[in-house]
Amino acid sequence: MAGAKKDQSRGRFITFEGGEGSGKSTQIKTLAERLNGAELRTIVTREPGGSPGAEIIRHLLLSGMGKLLGPEAETLLFAAARDDHVHAVIEPALEQGIWVLCDRFFDSTRAYQGRLGKVEPAVLNAMQRVTIGDLKPDLTIILDVPVDIGMQRAAARRGDRAPDRFEAEDVKFHEGLRDAYRQIAVAEPQRCVLVDANAAPGVVAARVWTSVRDRFLSHDVSKVANLA
Ligand code: TMP
Repeated sequence: MAGAKKDQSRGRFITFEGGEGSGKSTQIKTLAERLNGAELRTIVTREPGGSPGAEIIRHLLLSGMGKLLGPEAETLLFAAARDDHVHAVIEPALEQGIWVLCDRFFDSTRAYQGRLGKVEPAVLNAMQRVTIGDLKPDLTIILDVPVDIGMQRAAARRGDRAPDRFEAEDVKFHEGLRDAYRQIAVAEPQRCVLVDANAAPGVVAARVWTSVRDRFLSHDVSKVANLA
């Protein structure tokens, strides 16, 4: 089980969440560049995936194989991928003082499998205890876009490629997802920031940066002066 020792030398753990086409990849990349510019060692990773073992499970999940097994088994596959990712990549990096930016984490399981797959909270809590223990993101940025905009962006990004298992779900699914994320933001305001992502990437990046700076860097005048 992963522990979560909080000390100043430990890296920060920031997760990005949101529906399809919410712009997570672009925003994570921009934030990583800014943090590296502030001489904070930073890695970018993703779920499902992020470690060799978890990337194999990602392939299975996005192919739709997990869906055939049913929501609980699909959730177990996400949990297995997370377990490997946390132990192989996230925890070791945080221990070394590296900031970890992760494209999706347990809120995706809560929104997709919990809310939409109707997997019981007790089951999700049990899996969470086993895979991540006390590890929680220090900050979760939830990028919020209207469903039609997100789906258009996702289709443009995909080009000729067929939609994956979740992109292929209908508008009602994606509306439910947006709602689930908004509820997570309301339920955990200490950890989560809901960012309006229906704007140009640079505008959204400024909103994300403000959240990160205010939370972690406002005490460090030299870093803020370099980057504000
Ligand atoms: P993405 O990395 O391109 O966003 O694709 C990952 C997909 O997997 C996305 O549709 C959300 C879904 N997902 C879950 O359903 N549960 C999870 O716990 C995670 C991490 C992702």
